[in-house]
Amino acid sequence: MKTDLLNTIGMSREQIEQLLESSLRFKRGDDVSKPLAGKSVALVFFNPSLRTRASMQVGIYELGGNPVVLEPGGTSWTLEHRTGALMDSDKTEHVAEFVRVLERYCVAIGVRTFAALKDWQEERTDPVLNAFAQYASVPIINLESAMHHPCQSLADMLTIREKLGAGRKRVVLTWAWHPKPLPMAVPNSFALATAQMGHDLVIAHPPAYDLDEDLIKTLGASVEVTNDIDAAFTGADVIYAKSWGSKQFYGNADQDIATREQYRSKWIVDEQKMSRTNDAIFMHCLPVRRNVIVTDGVIDSAASVVIDEAENRLHVQKAILARLLGG
Ligand code: CP
Repeated sequence: MKTDLLNTIGMSREQIEQLLESSLRFKRGDDVSKPLAGKSVALVFFNPSLRTRASMQVGIYELGGNPVVLEPGGTSWTLEHRTGALMDSDKTEHVAEFVRVLERYCVAIGVRTFAALKDWQEERTDPVLNAFAQYASVPIINLESAMHHPCQSLADMLTIREKLGAGRKRVVLTWAWHPKPLPMAVPNSFALATAQMGHDLVIAHPPAYDLDEDLIKTLGASVEVTNDIDAAFTGADVIYAKSWGSKQFYGNADQDIATREQYRSKWIVDEQKMSRTNDAIFMHCLPVRRNVIVTDGVIDSAASVVIDEAENRLHVQKAILARLLGG
């Protein structure tokens, strides 16, 4: 039976630890195996990317394989994903045929498909990613969907392990002001993986910016949610900044933008807030808007690990590919 990587829900701490160990073997050069020799992996990008695209292409190459990059609506046909859709409008091909053709050439398919930020009840179910998983008989790897970004969160866990060791840490996921609403995939996956690794997780956000209730329930008892950014930073070992949109105003960007304006000066990671931490490292998945999410003074400081974090995407994804396709 094929195994997908759609999110980390259901993964045990031991399974994540094994992936991190494998990632470190690739990073140190102790593992130079080529489990993808003679094989191709499709990478389907509905949305832009620097890190995910480049690190997947390089990782597949370093494992001996060949990446096939496709951009629906750009370098490949526009795609419909809905079951039973009447395709008499702008969509040229259905995911059913797209996937079944691709798997005649490729041993796995990676998919990036962001939230459209239109319909919360629909998008929280990850409909496009799940359509790929439904029709495919080869593994599907989530390269960031509406709700999850597991490759990012696993690289984040590797970065925390490398920088701070294996112990339990006070990890703060903080919302930050951004001029427009953004999807929740990164905060969801980071919160989930942090809890799975046994850290003490604090999620700080303004009122109305709660994450998905079902996701919060899966995090267990060690999570604290607060609207007080100053209290959250106190004693933190890790500051992870990310902006996201409000479920309350989902599909209404203007209302969200008007609501968040009041948080602009307060909800930024700056030197004053970092001084309240336990010499915390600063993390962000990138891309990041300087002096909006984080000041130059913080992102350019010794506390910032964002470039190492981005490098770790490569090593973690090689471990994921080797685990899914190495057998
Ligand atoms: N962090 C991340 O996924 O970066 P890209 O959007 O550039 O791939």
